[in-house]
Amino acid sequence: MTEKFVRKNLEGYDSGHDWHHIDRVRKLALYIGSREGAGDRFIIELSALLHDTGDKKFRKQEESSPGDHISGFLKGQGVEDKIIDEIIRINRYISFSSVEKLSDKSVEFMIVQDADRLDAIGAIGVARAFNYGGFRNNAIYDPDYKTASTIGHFYDKLLKLSDLMNTSTGRRLAEERHMFLEIFLKQFFKEWETGSNL
Ligand code: ADP
Ligand code: NI
Repeated sequence: MTEKFVRKNLEGYDSGHDWHHIDRVRKLALYIGSREGAGDRFIIELSALLHDTGDKKFRKQEESSPGDHISGFLKGQGVEDKIIDEIIRINRYISFSSVEKLSDKSVEFMIVQDADRLDAIGAIGVARAFNYGGFRNNAIYDPDYKTASTIGHFYDKLLKLSDLMNTSTGRRLAEERHMFLEIFLKQFFKEWETGSNL
């Protein structure tokens, strides 16, 4: 039921925010929860499923706020108000670009945020970044860093994520993925300079 609701809401998103992203985040979040022995699995799973519903990058102006939309759905499913409030908080504040930051994150929040951030780094992170950049028709790379480019996004956001992990399991999983970003960039610039370094 929730899967159906989530899939419907993802229509119009870029394919880096597709159902597979949601499913990977759900699985990563449940894994982190079990390794940490922390968090309520029901809240973790529902928050992971709903974390990108109503994302402002894809939302049309006329749509109701993501909070109202999610709460309407969960109330209809008979979910307790207290749990609904937490799920909405996670949906609202999870984004890296969210201007408002939360100082008192619940353990479920920390876990789902780590899972979402892990899916933005590593090989999948590289694929998603170029996919999103393509969706926006951004440049692959702007050597002057004057216009939005996907390589620019690595420095603005992706390379910072491994230091922002909330849980020790998240930090451990981020290490290899972060290293891969660095390897990717090294090779990218090597090829970019082709001609001067052959
Ligand atoms: P969050 O939901 O935490 O704000 P985003 O939705 O901004 O994270 O990012 C989700 C995915 O889209 C990530 O894989 C990210 O790299 C990619 N993305 C977001 N903004 C850009 C951008 N300007 N250029 C390339 N990729 C981007
Ligand atoms: Ni996400």
